[in-house]
Amino acid sequence: MARQPLWLRCETKEFERRAALTPTTAKKLIDAGFDILVERDEQRIFDDTEYEAVGCTLVANNSWPVAPVNIPIIGLKELTVSDAPLPNTHIQFAHCYKYQAGWSTVLGRFNRGGGKLYDLEFLADANGRRVAAFGYHAGFAGAAAGALAHAAQKNGQTLGLLEPFQNEDAMVNAVKEKLGGSGKGLRALVIGALGRCGRGAVDLFRKIGLEGDDILKWDLAETAKGGPFQEILDVDIFVNCIYLSSPIPHFLTHEQIRNAGKSRRLSVVVDVSCDTTNPHNPIPIYNINTTFAEPTVPAEVGPGNPPLSVISIDHLPTLLPREASEQFSLDLLPSLLEFPNRNTAPVWANAEKLFRERLAEAIEEENL
Ligand SMILES: NC(=O)c1ccc[n+]([C@@H]2O[C@H](COP(=O)([O-])OP(=O)(O)OC[C@H]3O[C@@H](n4cnc5c(N)ncnc54)[C@H](O)[C@@H]3O)[C@@H](O)[C@H]2O)c1
Repeated sequence: MARQPLWLRCETKEFERRAALTPTTAKKLIDAGFDILVERDEQRIFDDTEYEAVGCTLVANNSWPVAPVNIPIIGLKELTVSDAPLPNTHIQFAHCYKYQAGWSTVLGRFNRGGGKLYDLEFLADANGRRVAAFGYHAGFAGAAAGALAHAAQKNGQTLGLLEPFQNEDAMVNAVKEKLGGSGKGLRALVIGALGRCGRGAVDLFRKIGLEGDDILKWDLAETAKGGPFQEILDVDIFVNCIYLSSPIPHFLTHEQIRNAGKSRRLSVVVDVSCDTTNPHNPIPIYNINTTFAEPTVPAEVGPGNPPLSVISIDHLPTLLPREASEQFSLDLLPSLLEFPNRNTAPVWANAEKLFRERLAEAIEEENL
């Protein structure tokens, strides 16, 4: 059987050091009959030489627009905004199926070029569960950012620029150092603790030294009684990791924070779920997404009350590019191995069906 080519493109977004394919998964694909082409990329956490060493062919940085049309291109983030036609097949997060800003323009490019999109967010198994997601490291990194913001606040400062860490250990050590050696004595509450993000947040708190009893792990059973919850005010750091699928009572409100006055222990809220603009956001105490450059936004607390910082960064796994890429890519691998049979393998055939549906809507929207 002919070998299956696959082209790993570079990422161009600021701070984005993750990769959809790692040297580990590239090697497994090559062994299974793939030819892997990799764009040279200094931004990526993995060196070009790591890919070369496992048998990938290196190609010029950002050269995918001239890739032969029969070669599918894999990447993570959105392509740079343009109206150039896209003749190739692309596997990526395109953020255009939920009618996000510019959705029909993106799909219009595929229509003009005759290319195809397999959106990574919508590759699902037979139970409808996503085959690969970045959740664990989002929770891990979010909890770390929360602990760093807490440490800064205790020193009368505001947390400054966050940059990607080499690996989990480097992140854990940096957080412990800022906390004076250990997080022992801190109390944290994670809601959505049984999910991907929640498990990551709990693990970070454990690794920086919080004691078992000081990490409160809540999921559906604990929130069933309905918020707002006093328990959130009684911890130092609250991390929200739920998957919001229907309207629920608020977890935390301005009124509750103001009424608690000076008795409030809570100093940092990390909203990993980041349902910032969702009308049913259960934490309606902020309304912007924060960034790596400015990771926190102050919540309104009432005059004379202690500060409360909110972190609402929507691309947290970028802070742990190596492990986040390895985990995501390994989870994606079984599906990639089925890619040569994409017309019949359900994971790909269903993703193509969704693409065709959205494409038809975009054609109508854009009058193409
Ligand atoms: N900020 C980021 O960088 C980032 C990155 C990845 C994912 N996310 C977001 O994080 C959220 C969680 O993702 P995930 O992959 O961990 O989802 P998941 O489905 O693995 O886990 C969600 C958990 O939330 C629980 N849950 C749902 N509703 C709840 C409620 N009302 N009370 C208590 N628990 C509740 C579920 O039982 C489940 O255990 C999603 O909204 C996702 O988009 C954010």
